[in-house]
Amino acid sequence: MPDSTPQSVLRFEHVSITFGDTVALNDVSFDLKAGGTRIIYGAAGSGKSVMLKIALGLLKPSSGRVFVFGQDTTDLKEKDLFPIRSKMGVLFQEGGLFDSMTIEDNVAYPLENAITAPDGKARIPADQISGRVREALRFVELEQTLVKFPSELSGGMRRRAGIARATVNEPPLMLYDSPTAGLDPITANMIMALIIKARDTKNTTSAIVTHRYQDGQLLANFRYNPESGRLERTEKNGDGVCARTTFMVFGEGRLVFEGTQDELDRSADPYVSKFKAVKQ
Ligand SMILES: Nc1ncnc2c1ncn2[C@@H]1O[C@H](COP(=O)(O)OP(=O)(O)O)[C@@H](O)[C@H]1O
Ligand SMILES: [Mg+2]
Repeated sequence: MPDSTPQSVLRFEHVSITFGDTVALNDVSFDLKAGGTRIIYGAAGSGKSVMLKIALGLLKPSSGRVFVFGQDTTDLKEKDLFPIRSKMGVLFQEGGLFDSMTIEDNVAYPLENAITAPDGKARIPADQISGRVREALRFVELEQTLVKFPSELSGGMRRRAGIARATVNEPPLMLYDSPTAGLDPITANMIMALIIKARDTKNTTSAIVTHRYQDGQLLANFRYNPESGRLERTEKNGDGVCARTTFMVFGEGRLVFEGTQDELDRSADPYVSKFKAVKQ
C-alpha cells in the first residue's frame, strides 16, 4: 500500500536560541506536515519571528535541529540554503518591499534571483518573467500598480504586493509574519482571504503568525471556492481544512500550547486563553 502519511515540511527538534541573556526560543519541537496550516500566537517578544527566521536559516539555533522538506538544514552553509529557501515564500512583518524598486521589479525579484539549474540555465526563462509577475499581481488584484513604487501604495496594497512577491515562484511552503498587523479590519480580512486563496489554489503548506483571533478562525474554518471566487465555510468534521489546521502558542520562548481549535478553546491556561475568543 502506498504511504499516505503527509510528508514533514517543517520540523523543529528541541530548538533553543539565546541572544546574550535572552532565551528567545527554549526547547521548541513541532512538526508541520504537507498540506497543513499552522497558526502561531504569542505575546510580543515570545519568539515567533525568531522561529520563522530559524526556519529560513537566517538565524542558527544554539542547540537542536531544524528540518525543512525532510532535510536537516541546521548546519547548512548559505549557498546550500538557497535551493531550500527558493521553495519557501515569506511575508515579513514589515512587508519587506524594496523602496527603490517598482512593484513590478519587486515581484520579479525572486524569479530573477532564482537559483540556476545544474545545467547552468536560469530556472525561469527571462521571457516568462513579465507574464509571471503580472499573474502574481493579478492574483492579489494589483495589476494596475506595476510601475508604481511602494511609497505610492497604501499599507494594505503594500502587504498585497508582498504576498505577490512571496508567491510568485509558487513555493510549497509559505511563512507569514503578522500579515494583518497594523491594518484596519476590512483590509485585514482581505489579506486573510488572499492567504487562504493562495493556500487552497496553490496547495501550499502555511505557517501564519498573528495576534488576531479572527485570522485563526478564518484559516481554520474557511476555504477558497475557485468557482465563486469567495471564501466559504467548511465542515468541521472530516478531513477538511479544519482537521489540517493546528495552533501553537508561544510564551517567553517556550511552546506552551499545540493543538486543534477545539483544544485551544477548551484550554484553561490563563496565558493561552488570551488567544481565544472573549468568553462571557
Ligand atoms: N537579532 C536579535 N538579537 C538579540 N535579541 C533578539 C534578536 N532577535 C530577537 N531577539 C529577542 O528575542 C526575543 C523574541 O523575539 P521575536 O521572535 O522577534 O518576538 P515576537 O514573538 O514578537 O516575534 C525578544 O526578546 C527579542 O528582543
Ligand atoms: Mg515578531
